[in-house]
Amino acid sequence: MCGIMGYVGPGDAAPVVVDGLRRLEYRGYDSAGIAVLSDGAIKVAKAAGKLARLEELLEIAPVSGSVGIGHTRWATHGPPNDLNAHPHTDPSGRFVVVHNGIIENFHELRTELTAAGQTFTSDTDTEILVHLVALEYDGDLADAVRKAVARARGAYALVVMTAEEPDKIVAVRKTSPMVIGIGENETFLASDIPAVLHRTRRFKLIEDGEMVIITQAGAVIETIDGDPVDRDELVVDWDPGQAERGGYDHFMLKEIHEQPNAISETLQGRLETDGDVVLDGVDLTDEFVDNLPAVWLTACGTAYHAALVGKRLLERTLAVPVMIEYAHELRYSDPRILPGSLMIAVSQSGETADTLAAARLAKQKGARLMAITNVVGSSLAREADDVLYTRAGPEIAVASTKAYLTQLIALHLLALHLGQRRGTVDLELAIQLESNLAELPTAAQRVLEMEEQVIESAQTLADNFDNGVDDVYFIGRDLDYAVATEGSLKLKEISYLHSEAMPAGELKHGTLALITEGMPVIVVLTQTHVYEKTLSALQEVKARGAHVTAVVYEDDELIAEFADVVLRIPRVADLIAPVLAIIPLQLLAYHSARILGHDIDQPRNLAKSVTVE
Ligand code: G6P
Repeated sequence: MCGIMGYVGPGDAAPVVVDGLRRLEYRGYDSAGIAVLSDGAIKVAKAAGKLARLEELLEIAPVSGSVGIGHTRWATHGPPNDLNAHPHTDPSGRFVVVHNGIIENFHELRTELTAAGQTFTSDTDTEILVHLVALEYDGDLADAVRKAVARARGAYALVVMTAEEPDKIVAVRKTSPMVIGIGENETFLASDIPAVLHRTRRFKLIEDGEMVIITQAGAVIETIDGDPVDRDELVVDWDPGQAERGGYDHFMLKEIHEQPNAISETLQGRLETDGDVVLDGVDLTDEFVDNLPAVWLTACGTAYHAALVGKRLLERTLAVPVMIEYAHELRYSDPRILPGSLMIAVSQSGETADTLAAARLAKQKGARLMAITNVVGSSLAREADDVLYTRAGPEIAVASTKAYLTQLIALHLLALHLGQRRGTVDLELAIQLESNLAELPTAAQRVLEMEEQVIESAQTLADNFDNGVDDVYFIGRDLDYAVATEGSLKLKEISYLHSEAMPAGELKHGTLALITEGMPVIVVLTQTHVYEKTLSALQEVKARGAHVTAVVYEDDELIAEFADVVLRIPRVADLIAPVLAIIPLQLLAYHSARILGHDIDQPRNLAKSVTVE
């Protein structure tokens, strides 16, 4: 998803802005550009492709100035080429904008402006905005921006500069995220905090429907109608090193290895010694908890797979119906969400457009909205009645790992908390789960130490690929199936192998026809009550020559007979097993992609945060 940077300060804006863009790379992009104000004129440099191309351009034709904006674009309107890259200028070249989001009435506005004699050089919806700002300009940039956005429908973070007022940047936020960083005699704008965290720890969040005017002296926040807004500063205490790779070859590997620590963070202060689970930010009355008619879960991508685990956990601990739906499906369906239900929206970023829309729909229907998210102050967090932060720290790799794992932990804590309050969780189980949860950081660390067997399995997948087989099947039942869905997604995202996950019982209804000699099948086998059933499915694929990799408990003695590669995890309560079982599958995806030589942290066509539909 697009990334935005802005800078006003005493130094040269160009390197600051390019550096910020580099830190936003993880969002995924296909072109990049910057604009600076220099001697009363706007200078633009932009190029399709990665930032390295932009930097080459800047080396040949350097630009400098003390005010600058920049953008990494993830194409929506028009292909990713040089012309469509941001920033965009008006025909006079005196106004320039970068924009994240989508202008829904793009065609209508473009037709109207074209009829009025305006010409456009790109296919983007963004170019319309800079035309509108220039047309509305009458000596006050903020006023012109206000008038321009009043004509646009949609979601945006829009950042504007003009040569007429060379000391400032004006920005507006509607839906798409943007923050202000406050430095000493310098001010930043960015799509997110990590982009400028190495320059300042002082931030102000920009809310929906607000305008910001930044100068060297700081930021003035107003509503879009011009009313002043007083916003407290947020001092962010993340270690800037957290946002760096920390010696690992890829962010993904670093983030996989950060998981034991991330689990500790998620648990911190929430598991009481007397067995209670205390959830800061969750404020449900006893009446609400006791009378819950149903629980709903909604999410997209990896967060959906965490929610799939959550469904099983909540069903067992709350004894109420638990429904789950992809957010992009839920928002356009007619869900029977009963008033008084709990809707849990799971989202790492808290900015996924579909998840936000589904969450709003649930609220309209009278559900109470709970967010499970990693981003403090994200849109979802602000809209929710209750928020359970996952505390995974910044996740840079597009393929999510530690965010997923901490979502599982948050769901466990919630299941225990609500189950205890409702009196529906069996005491013995609660005690076992709590002690297992407390031991998880150590157990996860042990799983991370078995990379050797994982590499063996990854090598098989890569060799198969070299021999023309690029399919992989993941199977499991119940919670093992939920883990299989995420294992399969991880592999697909970064290795580009065709991968499918299915409940083991579904194999014989079609996919078995595709199992031939050497076909890789990954099986997750931790759920005791369905162990034998899954083993039968395994025998069926084995009989057809499949190459089997199995994820099992370390004391499983049966499996050696059926599997070619065995990945063992410490024994825990079956309900907890997904937290550990996913780790070897994350590593399997990572090593397969590494052996195949892919761009692991930024897989093709994918974005970290999907803030448009
Ligand atoms: C994108 C990301 C996934 C993520 C999904 C939902 O597809 O690449 O990693 O799971 O969006 O994002 P969210 O921020 O809502 O968890």
